[in-house]
Amino acid sequence: MHNTHEISPNIYWVGGSERRLSRFENMFPLNNGIAYNSFVIVDEKTVLLDTVDISISDLFLANVKHALNGRTLDYLVINHMEPDHCANIVSMIRQYPQLKLIGNTKTFQFFEQFYDVDVKSNYMIVKDQDELNLGQHTLKFYTAAMVHWPEVMMTYEKSQKILFSADAFGTFGGLNGGVFADECDYVLDYLSESRRYYSNIVGKFGGPVQTIMNKLSNQEILMICPLHGPLYRGDDLGLILNKYEQWSTYRAEVKSVLFIYASMYNNTEVAVDTLANKLARLGVKNMKIMDVSQYDLSYVIAEVWKYSNIVLATPTYNADVFYKIHSLLHEMAALNVQNRKFSLIFNSSWGGKTQETVMSYLDKLKNISIVGEPFNIKSAYKDHNESELDALAKDILDSLK
Ligand code: FEO
Repeated sequence: MHNTHEISPNIYWVGGSERRLSRFENMFPLNNGIAYNSFVIVDEKTVLLDTVDISISDLFLANVKHALNGRTLDYLVINHMEPDHCANIVSMIRQYPQLKLIGNTKTFQFFEQFYDVDVKSNYMIVKDQDELNLGQHTLKFYTAAMVHWPEVMMTYEKSQKILFSADAFGTFGGLNGGVFADECDYVLDYLSESRRYYSNIVGKFGGPVQTIMNKLSNQEILMICPLHGPLYRGDDLGLILNKYEQWSTYRAEVKSVLFIYASMYNNTEVAVDTLANKLARLGVKNMKIMDVSQYDLSYVIAEVWKYSNIVLATPTYNADVFYKIHSLLHEMAALNVQNRKFSLIFNSSWGGKTQETVMSYLDKLKNISIVGEPFNIKSAYKDHNESELDALAKDILDSLK
């Protein structure tokens, strides 16, 4: 049993896909599982870059053995010390007792927090931009703190110009045979999941993503190998680098309107549909309407990353914001959402502090603006509300220019 790919001369993908997992980190729904990527370089010295989740250990260990083709393993680079990648470190040491573990001081702090084995004599501590020559290949280690954990490193292989990027550039979803984005219909099959992965897992840390991208800007990169999902080369490399530039600077990809609403008896929904209909008749294209109750919030967050304008519509519940909109507001603040234009629709039958709560969350977001007056309805949208909604539509249209 083995399943490996030679991705570059003497560099092998030795990962695997786990499609039975229904939630990543026991939180984010998966539609087609997740891939755990790991790589072996065979040179005068042999190197393994990261391991995989415990769920695919058997296949992984067979893959590593196959790639090594009878050689021993000299080094294991630990770019990320989270269990979906580090779960097989201890079994690798058992198999190759002389193995040197390459990480930084934080890597080994976390290693000792997670595991109860004393293998200090195996540690090889590296600092930012230290290099390791393997023969034909040379590895250069870049610390990438908070993308998305403090110990994260990226490893650049100088001869083939390959960046092993840890979780950055990762995607939800198992692989579909090939390991490269150009071996599948990446835009159709993966891009929205790349965005959902980025926004929910890495989204809070746009600043650290910018820091590492600037640090790497003087290195030519011909291939990016993340720890999850397809690998990037050729045109796909430019595509994903552009997306990361936009996503990490919180710049919208689409200049249009995302409506996110909650509605218990369709009355708030009618107001949303009416406003969207007015905007469509004014010429606004590519809008999207999402009933928050129908989605896991990770999908809503991914769309928040995409759109320039967001209309939030919520009924009052227990004299406050409908709870799933409340959770979304909390999540947007926690993930550092920035540079967006919000418009607001409130529906209450007898009062409450909904507007106050929504504003308290929006106040926490950087570089946002409120477009138009908040539109308030009492229980249901009525014809006499129309002129106010027309005014809001006009303000949103102006804000898109
Ligand atoms: Fe894929 Fe942060 O672990």
